Amino acid sequence: MKITIAENAGFCYGVMRAISMADEYIKKKGSIYSFGPIIHNPQVVADYEHKGMHVIESIGDANKPVLIRSHGVPSDVYMKMQSKNIKYIDATCPFVKEAQDYVKHLSEEGYSVVIIGDKHHPEVKAHISYADSKAVVINSVDDAKKVNMERIGVISQTTQSVDRFSKIVGELSKHCKELKVYNTICDATKNRQDAASSLAKVSDVMIVIGGRNSANTRRLYEICKHYCDKTYHIETAKEIDNSWFTNAESIGITAGASTPSYIIERVFNYIKEL
Ligand code: F3S
Repeated sequence: MKITIAENAGFCYGVMRAISMADEYIKKKGSIYSFGPIIHNPQVVADYEHKGMHVIESIGDANKPVLIRSHGVPSDVYMKMQSKNIKYIDATCPFVKEAQDYVKHLSEEGYSVVIIGDKHHPEVKAHISYADSKAVVINSVDDAKKVNMERIGVISQTTQSVDRFSKIVGELSKHCKELKVYNTICDATKNRQDAASSLAKVSDVMIVIGGRNSANTRRLYEICKHYCDKTYHIETAKEIDNSWFTNAESIGITAGASTPSYIIERVFNYIKEL
């Protein structure tokens, strides 16, 4: 049995940056709040709860400094923190910030802003807030068919699938007079998706590790499933069912941007021992 871990599996630049900012602060001051879970990985969030980072869901609950996670926050959160004199450490990923700037810019130029992504995801909720008038969020070619606007300005959730993004943009071009597109899918996402799909094509079984609430992990699962029918999404090695590997000769492993390397290693070692 050959077991291969895909290139670029695990923590991305933005997540590592947020984690090291949190570590540095906790080391110096002992504890901090995180506005929403620092990353979409329940195991890491539980570890940090012990270390001294407590999750709050409302900025009104903060009576000590707050870490803004890599997904970013809506613009009014900054205003609330300033008006309440709440100190914050901004760990918004620079690529997310860049997408927010594009939304602002498109909106100021008079484009109707269309965001390709999941409207329930915190990153997308934050993007919406940077448009002057309400931005439209779509996530499929069918959604794009319903759009009808003169001048459309498009950005993407940073973890969107490249393939889906291109198809949706292609469809949008049929429903407007002018289309301006910023491809804001980050390189880490693109590289991870490319490596995962190449590995899925040559694997009998694919294991995708990451939080069930992690958008980029779910996207990886969809991509791998397309090429390898026996693709399974797990959070930890405990969820592995040994029967998945019956008659399998090649096993591929990949992991979302918020999956720490120790969880990937445990999964690898578990399968190796089978
Ligand atoms: Fe940033 Fe891309 Fe990671 S936007 S948080 S580097 S997935």
